[in-house]
Amino acid sequence: MLADRLLREVLDTLPDAILVVDEGGVIREANERVTSMFGWDRRELIERNVDLLVPFQHRARHAELRAEYARRPLARPMGSGMLLHGERKDGSQFPVEIALSPWQPDAGEPMVVCAVRDLSLFDRWRSMSMARVEAVEAERTRIAAELHDDIVQQMVFIKHRFTTLRNAESVFGDDDSLLELGSAIDHTIASIERICRGLTPLELKHFGLTLALKILFREYSEAGFKVRGKLVDVGRDLDLAKALALFRIVQESLSNAREHSGADEALVTMTRDADWVQVEVKDTGVGFETAAVASSGSGIGLLGMSERAAMIGGLFELRSTPGEGTRIRVRVPVAEPARAEEEL
Ligand SMILES: Nc1ncnc2c1ncn2[C@@H]1O[C@H](COP(=O)(O)OP(=O)(O)OP(=O)(O)O)[C@@H](O)[C@H]1O
Ligand SMILES: [Mg+2]
Repeated sequence: MLADRLLREVLDTLPDAILVVDEGGVIREANERVTSMFGWDRRELIERNVDLLVPFQHRARHAELRAEYARRPLARPMGSGMLLHGERKDGSQFPVEIALSPWQPDAGEPMVVCAVRDLSLFDRWRSMSMARVEAVEAERTRIAAELHDDIVQQMVFIKHRFTTLRNAESVFGDDDSLLELGSAIDHTIASIERICRGLTPLELKHFGLTLALKILFREYSEAGFKVRGKLVDVGRDLDLAKALALFRIVQESLSNAREHSGADEALVTMTRDADWVQVEVKDTGVGFETAAVASSGSGIGLLGMSERAAMIGGLFELRSTPGEGTRIRVRVPVAEPARAEEEL
């Protein structure tokens, strides 16, 4: 029938890969775009499991998520708020956006229609995210500079005047309250300086990621939330953009662990091999339903983390199980692939 053929042609011409998947995760139909997007011939994919197209490290979790979706099938973006990746036949990975839609054919079992869009083709997406993150960093630097150059200097002046007056014994009051006032001023100065460091981690530039993280952990631990760190020294292996992205991801993960997990400690691990640096932040607190949080749109912390990871060519993974805790994992390539190719 002409209409059917026309429809098939339109489907094959779409910029998105379309997959029709049954409840067991088996691909039952696909358009031609899957071939150029995933490197698998369309016919090779039919009757195979869709988990094959998911990055290797997420396959087990993906199978669980498919089962969850089958219990509550709704037309919705997959893992909304998270940055997703697909895996090509050659093992390479690329950022994707996936829309899911349940479909009940007249006869037969329920299906899910998946539309996959390759985001790496959309420079606009990357540069917009980059511009947003750069604007946030610039604003933080500006606030830190103002706090430091203006407020801290004023506080130092107040402390100086206070000390002079106290020494001159021209201020009334008992010694204890004067001592208290003096240490309150010192505390205020220390707090503002700590906020400044959080806004722009200067140590990162001067001493590298490992030390900047250790300082961050010490501050958390001193404030009553213990952070244990098992960190390799990455030295200067990462450029500043990558180091800053990893620092911000750890900073936000720890802030979430302290604010939301109910646990009183977290573990941060940083490892590296020839090509990747991997950082993991883990708590054993209350955990949460990732799908529910993603669709509620609450908070920008998790979203910001996955965006930052994507911008530096990293892989971001969030795993949280109610009652068991939360784990954030990000892997960043050490060598810049584009530059490495240019040098050949
Ligand atoms: N480690 C964690 N343990 C338990 N729940 C968490 C954890 N991390 C995140 N969450 C849940 O996920 C939600 C979203 O986190 P997200 O960081 O995106 O936003 P937020 O922390 O609420 O706000 P903000 O925009 O200030 O970061 C949290 O409100 C919380 O319910
Ligand atoms: Mg947060």
